[in-house]
Amino acid sequence: MKIAIIGGTGKFGRELATNLALVGHDVIIGSRKAGKAVDVVKDIERHSHIELSLKGESNRMAAYLSDIVVLSVPYETIFATIDDIIEELHQKIIITNIVPIEKHRGRFYHKQNCDSVADIIQGYVSLDNIIVAAMHTIPADYLTTSHRLQTFVYTNEEGVLDNIFELFNSINIEPLYCGNLRKSMFAEEMTVFLLNLSILNNMNPGSLKVF
Ligand SMILES: NC(=O)c1ccc[n+]([C@@H]2O[C@H](COP(=O)([O-])OP(=O)(O)OC[C@H]3O[C@@H](n4cnc5c(N)ncnc54)[C@H](OP(=O)(O)O)[C@@H]3O)[C@@H](O)[C@H]2O)c1
Repeated sequence: MKIAIIGGTGKFGRELATNLALVGHDVIIGSRKAGKAVDVVKDIERHSHIELSLKGESNRMAAYLSDIVVLSVPYETIFATIDDIIEELHQKIIITNIVPIEKHRGRFYHKQNCDSVADIIQGYVSLDNIIVAAMHTIPADYLTTSHRLQTFVYTNEEGVLDNIFELFNSINIEPLYCGNLRKSMFAEEMTVFLLNLSILNNMNPGSLKVF
């Protein structure tokens, strides 16, 4: 399966794309500017010692070429980003880690919505798209560590879970199914909690481990 990372030039998307490519997935990094994505791919290749199936494209072309689309862009940009690629999204699985967050006076706040971001995306795209919400509580830097991470996973379509679990396990992330998209609001709020916890206690951003 081909995986597009929309926002793949950013902090999170770049690490995720690298990890997926390192274990043999076909990955396409998307950007509003194809040249920027190509440059990021060259940089990743310079630092890796094996041949990767990784390329850089415009967001639209990345979505067109893929079976799974990861949306990893700032919350404020989701509608503009989806509008740009919407024609290429038919029948695709969309994974999102987007947290609606803002920072004021040194503290993070959850931008309260009635719906989770994943629900908002589900309402905006076609009904033939399956949305999966995951990876909210994983800081980008942790993707490059050898620790086995965990992620909460939310979807309204349980039939997709086997494929999604296989994908996460392939990059050493243990998936924990937590229910439908509405419930992913909890993961969004937990991310804000973990970030503030790190500020208040002067430590690195936390992730979660459920034993
Ligand atoms: N960073 C983390 O540790 C982390 C952890 C968990 C979840 N998340 C979530 O992951 C998402 C991405 O986080 P990030 O830290 O990787 O973000 P980021 O580096 O600030 O941005 C990611 C990419 O989004 C695109 N982008 C930026 N501004 C845009 C705009 N105005 N319109 C359209 N596209 C724009 C850019 O790609 P191009 O310029 O190439 O188009 C950028 O490289 C966020 O929603 C965040 O809540 C992040």
